[in-house]
Amino acid sequence: MAEKQFKIVLLGEGRVGKTSLVMRYCQNVFNDKQNSTVQASFQNKRLNLDGHRINLAVWDTAGQERFHALGPIYYRDANGALLVYDITDNDSFVRVQNWVKELRKMLGGDIVLAIAGNKSDLERNRVVSQERAEEYAAQVGAKHFNTSAKLSKGVNELFLDLTQRMLAA
Ligand code: GTP
Repeated sequence: MAEKQFKIVLLGEGRVGKTSLVMRYCQNVFNDKQNSTVQASFQNKRLNLDGHRINLAVWDTAGQERFHALGPIYYRDANGALLVYDITDNDSFVRVQNWVKELRKMLGGDIVLAIAGNKSDLERNRVVSQERAEEYAAQVGAKHFNTSAKLSKGVNELFLDLTQRMLAA
């Protein structure tokens, strides 16, 4: 059976943990001193799901504003997008809302969306309430997950759900 190819792009403010989520999911590693990404790159992840052989190209890019112009080139042919914020940083959640608007404007309903509230291990410093994040996600047709790239919580579940929805799309 042919392998299905899907492209997933990660988007979100600088330092929210995009690279860390990709590294955790694709290589099952975590680096406490992960450096800022300065260019786009991807890692492949192969999996079998519901009788399908799947190859995910998981794209990571820089969150810093000065790289924003790259956006459209990067997400144009994506099947899925993972929008990441840091639960201890309200601005990063606002930034997710801006990305959703941009993706919907440029790609319409063709892209499957997931939102990750990352760094869930820092619960005591949480400023974005889970209820608010889930309500928002439901409004825009996305699914919300709490993740910790550090503790490997919620990461597999998120990518599995996103892949299932891309298969069904
Ligand atoms: P840019 O490349 O600047 O866009 O950053 P990024 O979104 O790729 O974030 P990155 O993965 O580089 O992580 C930023 C910092 O947060 C690093 O010091 C990570 O070790 C840390 N970090 C990432 N995920 C987690 C997490 O789940 N929990 C905690 N406590 N720290 C995390």
